[in-house]
Order: sequence, then C-alpha cells, then structure tokens
Amino acid sequence: MCGIVGYIGDKNVYPILIKGLQRLEYRGYDSAGVCIANTGLKVYKQKGKVSELESFVASKDVHGTIGIGHTRWATHGEPNNTNAHPHTSMNGSFVLVHNGIIENYAKLKNDLVQKGIVFQTDTDTEVLVNLIEYYYEQDGIDSAEMAVRIALSKVVGAYGIVVLCRKEENKMIAARMGSPLVIGIGQGEYFLASDASPIIEYTDSVIYMNDGDVAILEKHSLTLKTVENSPANFEVTKVDLSIGDLDKGDFEHYMLKEIFEQPKTISDTYRGRINPQKDDIVLGGLIDVWDKIVEARRIIIIGCGTSWHAALVAEYLIEEYARVPVEVEYASEFRYRKPIIDKGDIVIAISQSGETADTLAALKMAKQNGALILGICNVVGSSIARETDGGVYTHAGTEIGVASTKAFTAQVTVLTLFAFKLARLKENIDQETYQLFIKEMLAIPDKVESVLLAHPKIKEIAKKYKDSVNALYLGRGYLFPVALEGALKLKEISYIHAEGYAAGEMKHGPIALVDDNLPVVVVSAKDNYYEKVVSNIQEVKARKGNIIAVVTEGDNGLRNMADDLFEIPESHPAVAALLTVVPLQLFAYYIALMRGCDVDQPRNLAKSVTVE
Ligand code: M6R
Repeated sequence: MCGIVGYIGDKNVYPILIKGLQRLEYRGYDSAGVCIANTGLKVYKQKGKVSELESFVASKDVHGTIGIGHTRWATHGEPNNTNAHPHTSMNGSFVLVHNGIIENYAKLKNDLVQKGIVFQTDTDTEVLVNLIEYYYEQDGIDSAEMAVRIALSKVVGAYGIVVLCRKEENKMIAARMGSPLVIGIGQGEYFLASDASPIIEYTDSVIYMNDGDVAILEKHSLTLKTVENSPANFEVTKVDLSIGDLDKGDFEHYMLKEIFEQPKTISDTYRGRINPQKDDIVLGGLIDVWDKIVEARRIIIIGCGTSWHAALVAEYLIEEYARVPVEVEYASEFRYRKPIIDKGDIVIAISQSGETADTLAALKMAKQNGALILGICNVVGSSIARETDGGVYTHAGTEIGVASTKAFTAQVTVLTLFAFKLARLKENIDQETYQLFIKEMLAIPDKVESVLLAHPKIKEIAKKYKDSVNALYLGRGYLFPVALEGALKLKEISYIHAEGYAAGEMKHGPIALVDDNLPVVVVSAKDNYYEKVVSNIQEVKARKGNIIAVVTEGDNGLRNMADDLFEIPESHPAVAALLTVVPLQLFAYYIALMRGCDVDQPRNLAKSVTVE
C-alpha cells in the first residue's frame, strides 16, 4: 500500500504533490509527507491524513520545482511523525519515499549499525535510504544512481521508491520491484506516482515501470535501465482516465457515488461484449485462449476480500451451467500451500486494483507451474493485468471508496458473461437458454436503478439497526457469496461485527448468537433454495431474532415473516447476485454514516493491498 508521488520540471511542486497525495490517499492514510529540493532537501511530514500535513506545512517554505511525497499505510513501526515518510539518511545526503516491504531489513540494519550508522525510526525504509548513502560514500561509486542500484541489488522484498540526492538536486531516481510506479511524460517535466490519478491533468502519456527497472529523471531527460545497469524495455502508452472520474460530484462520499454508478458501470462492463443481435457474448481478451478454456480440466479462481466473493459467485455459475470443476481460493492461502497445479488448469485472478500482492504472487506461482493464467481486473495496465495470458477488464471506472461496491458488480458481470459463454461453447446450454441469459443480463442496469430508488427506505431501516453490536448475514446458492459480501461491507465501514454464513450452516453454530438484539439479514430470491430459506427464517424468528430480508418484489410470504424488507425486481437466479447486493451496500453505508464513521477511508484499511 502507501502512495508515492514525484515531480521534476518548472512548475511549483508543492501543490502538485499535495493534490497527488490526496488522489492516492485511498492507498493509506496513517501519515503523509513531502520533500522539496531547493538548495537542500526540505522534509515535512505529519501523522494523519494529507489535510493534517497541509495544516502543518501552511507556514513553511515550500518553494521549489522538484519534490517527492508519500501517504502511508503503516507496516513497520506505528503511525507517528517519526515513522512517516519521506525518510532521510543519517548524513542527510538522500531522502526517499517507499511503497512496499524490505523483507531482509533486519539483517541489513544490523550490518549498517555495525558500521556506525544510527537509526531514528522503526521503519524498513530507513534501512534502504541509509544503505544507499553508505554505498554513495564508498570509493568508486560515482553517482547517486549507481548507489541506488547497488543498494537495491542487496534488497529482498517489494518496493516502489523515489529518491532525491542533496548533491544531485536536479535529479529524481525511481525504482520498482513489486509495487507499482507510473511515469508521466510532460513538456520539459516528468511526474511519478503509484497510479496515474495524480498525473492525468498534466499529461496522458505514461510509462508503467516494470519490475527490476530504475528510472533517472531530469527536467529534459529520462533514462530507464535495469538494476543490473542494462537498458530497460518500456512502452509509452496513453492513459484512459478523466478527472471527472476522480470527483465525488454531488455525493457526500465516494462510496455512495460508486453505489449509484452501478447501473452505468454494469452496462459499461457488458457493452461491446454482447453482439448487436444479442445472441452471443464476445470477450475480446479471451479470443485466443477459448480453446484451452473449453478443454480445461478445472478452473481455479483466486482473489482476496470482495474479489474472492465475486469468485464464489462464479464457482456456482460455472459449475451449474458449464459443468467444469471450479475451485475458489484465497490468494494468500493458495500461494503458500503448495497446491497441485498443472498444464490443464486455468487460473483466473480477480482483482479490482490489479496490484494485490497475494493475488499477484499466487498468479505468478500458477504460471510457473504451467497453468494458463487469466485476469479480471479493473485498473488498466495494472501488474496482474500485465502478467496474464489473457483476460477481461471490468469497466467500472476508478473506484476510490475503500469499500468495494461497483467493482464487485462489474466483476460479477464479467464472470457471469464468462460462465454463460463457456456453458454455450461446451454445449451445456442451448441457444435459447443462452439468449435468455443475455436478455436477463441486459435488463440488470434498469433493475439496479429501481433498487437504488428505494434508498430513503433503506436509510430508515438502517436507523433502526445502527446501534447493533453484531449482525448475521445468511444466503444460499448464488446468494451465499452476497451474504458474505454484505457482512464484509458492514464490518469494514461501520465496525459492527458481522458474519456471513451459508444459511444451512446456521444451525451448526451461529444460531447460538440469535437473540432479540441480533439483526439477521437474509438474502433470498425466487430460486430453488427459496423454501429452505423460509425454514431458516422461521428458525431465527423462533429465537426472537430480527429479520431483515432481501426479497423479490411481490413475495408476500416473506413480507409477513420479516421485520424489515429490501425488495428487488424479479430476475433469473443466475443474475440475482447483481441485484441483491445493492441494498446491502446502501444499508452498510447508511449505518456507517449514522455511526459517524469515515465511510471512504475506514480505519486500518487501504484500498490497494500491495503488501502481504
Ligand atoms: O484490488 P483487489 O480487488 O485485489 O482487492 C481485494 C481486497 O483487498 C478488497 O476487495 C477489499 O476486501 C475491499 N476493502 C472490500 O471492500
């Protein structure tokens, strides 16, 4: 996690850094800091959000046209002023910002301490900046860039770094291994950032740095080489992102804006992927690999958090309609547990950011084992997207709220299209059913729109439950992952303890939690599980639990049993996840709001989890 930004050119650097850090704040908000090169390297840093740094810096000298900035998600060392980035080397020759983890920092630190280097912070980053200074001071090292490369060759771990050197003040040095870095190319100026969002209002020409590369940036020159000092391969691309995407518009929070964007983001995601005759699904990024997918022995889907929930929906869909065995795994488990993978396997990584460290590492491991690897990512050009043999982008647009909403429905949209297409290719469904599914998908945006119209009612219901201590979410079939997702939304932004369960599991333990204080959210649809869900509701009612039911419009049976209802339009069960999740997103949002929580930036979290 952590966001880093840098600029070299003729513009006043401080506003560029601050605005860039605000855009990157979703990556972490434990502390923020900047360093400005102007006859010396001036560092200002502060615990808390970027706004706190701004207040702190208000009366300071921030003149200069070269600088770097950082917003932190703490890994090594508590979030305080000292551990905030940028970090300065002992003799003040170097200042550095870092995103990632130096895994062998303890050994490196020990070696440096033996050499008389004194440390001020608890961070792994301070080790790296001192290592660079140590090499810079050795005979035969003739430049900051050389010292950076030598230091990096000693490092194990992940980093995106930007370095300033006091004696080479007109230069910025950046390097990447595992943590993303984008270079923006302007006229006589360069930008650096963890993603393109701080760059887009200045230039749309960017280079996504590759792992193992080092960039040396001056006002009028850019050199890219490898850590081993060979020329690096790179490509200048155009970013497809507008500043409008980064605004809250008329909404109070990004999360609310993103929930309300879903009718559009779902249709943006299927647009161009359903042919004009509405009788076929065309996923351009998979055209070259469908043969292998159809022949696959099994499909393994990996992801984390919300992306893992989307994967579970896919497991149900693919197994039911395409009849291919599917395994869904947490990427963090998969990468370490020595799974059996071979050439007949397809591994699909799902990730909004495309940068999640565990998912990326799991994918690389699967690739090494000979699997065909595919990606479903939202961020174009992200590390996971670039690693895969094929894939499909979700066109959800930039998601800034830390709680994922529109990315989930976009992922489920892509996975549903994938499952239907595969089912048809394998001739497990006939053309008529295929076309019915396509029609159901095309109807989803209008139906989501109608769910959103009920937001005042959802807000009223949220008021009743805002002071709950615990909550249980239950669902079956396709709606079991929706129950998990609803519970995750509530816990991550309102800090209410919430558990998602397969409704049939309730009697094996969670039912012990039920009393007259416990809200139990039951996600239902008119599907094969309906009668079973009704029985589960009865079991909760018998123990005086409060039922909040997500039901299909006109479902009078459940209307009479539930204390509160979220109604959704009728749809085929195969697409019901896309509708039933929406009231749960709004429910969590309103509860968090009423509890005074920071909805867009919940405590302890960051949007892009680029560390293990
Ligand atoms: O970017 P990714 O989809 O790989 O992120 C995975 C999770 O970190 C993410 O879904 C997280 O669980 C969200 N905060 C959930 O709202």
